[in-house]
Amino acid sequence: MLLLSTVLVFFYTTLHLETTYGHQPGQDGHLKGHDMKTQPPERESRSTPAPSFNASTLMGLKEMIPQNGAYWNRLLYSAPEGRKKDVNGPRRAAPWSRCAETNRDHLHTNVHDFASYPVLFQSFLESMSCRSPPPLIEQPRKRETDTEGSDQVFLLFAIKSTPENFAQRQAVRETWGREGAYPGGARVRTVFLLGSSTPDDPDLTLLLRTEARHFGDLLQWDFYESFLNLTLKMNTFLEWAQKRFPDVSFVFSGDDDVFVNTPLVLSYLQSVDSSKASQLYVGHVITSASALRDSTSKYYIPVSFFEGLYPAYAGGGGFIFSGALLKPLLSLSLVIPFFPIDDVYMGMCFKALGVSPQAHGGFQTFDVKDKDRENLCVHKRLMLVHQRTPKQIKMLWRGIQSPWLTC
Ligand SMILES: *[C@@H]1O[C@H](CO)[C@@H](O)[C@H](O)[C@H]1NC(C)=O
Repeated sequence: MLLLSTVLVFFYTTLHLETTYGHQPGQDGHLKGHDMKTQPPERESRSTPAPSFNASTLMGLKEMIPQNGAYWNRLLYSAPEGRKKDVNGPRRAAPWSRCAETNRDHLHTNVHDFASYPVLFQSFLESMSCRSPPPLIEQPRKRETDTEGSDQVFLLFAIKSTPENFAQRQAVRETWGREGAYPGGARVRTVFLLGSSTPDDPDLTLLLRTEARHFGDLLQWDFYESFLNLTLKMNTFLEWAQKRFPDVSFVFSGDDDVFVNTPLVLSYLQSVDSSKASQLYVGHVITSASALRDSTSKYYIPVSFFEGLYPAYAGGGGFIFSGALLKPLLSLSLVIPFFPIDDVYMGMCFKALGVSPQAHGGFQTFDVKDKDRENLCVHKRLMLVHQRTPKQIKMLWRGIQSPWLTC
């Protein structure tokens, strides 16, 4: 019975994904709706080499999360039972522009102390069932550059940025996020992921359009830039990447204020055993974390919203996972309700897939010791450090490449 319902759920999520793509507005010149629709249902080819969604792995996640009255917990436990119930609340089908407002009554009915939640948390809940926001800036040149030479992209940098962070993006482009083929032939591509400014922010539309036209590496979607919207940002990126780079070997997800030692990352990824290459999830692993109940914290999670443990997860400052996991992650995101903290949410999805995060000392998302912050030899051996200004990024990059550096 369990097995049967799992198969049904999986088939349903698959169908749902394809419907979602089919309904995307025709913003995308390269992948038109009909390309997706004419594809056969692919019933047999579901067994990908990467782990896929199945009953026992979702149970792994449920072991950490009690079935009780907390809102998120209820959504998790009600989701896979059948087609009718919606994982993220009742009305995902509402059009994007009205999606958040249609959820208000539902929330007031179902979350008894909703009115006591911090304002941003309330906003998160109102839009937590809203998916696939329309693009504002789509990557125009990405496909052209890909068709020159080999199609196979080895590493895709997906960098969480915000509209006003021009200098950070430029520093990344000029250094660790430079696109092209690296020694050994590994092809690298970079995209910056942006939400939109709120009406209170200065209007940067013109600057962003110019930047996008010039560099061709911006992706912007129609949702407000906010810490609590990062899960939505990640999920929207996964949808995009699954369409545009379905064959990418590895995906990096991280912030625009980190320093990445790209040559070292590439040689590490090239050395990953082929049996592990399709299920890699590596970074700075945070274990035994639990929800913070201090309502002034950025990471605050109300008791009536979520109860349970966080699975081990890789810190969102920068981690890497296998491109083969894009598709299973997307299927899972329809079954696991959005969680307001994006790296915890990714950890939940990986946990449900049965993929454990691999700790790697080279990822320092909490930064290195103060005395080592300028030490080039320390940085030459590291894969990632947080948090650096654009100028520091440039200096570190130049430093670790210097022929005079003897470590
Ligand atoms: C996330 O974006 C949506 C769409 O713009 C918005 O309605 C919501 O308020 C945002 N959430 C937060 C926490 O700002």
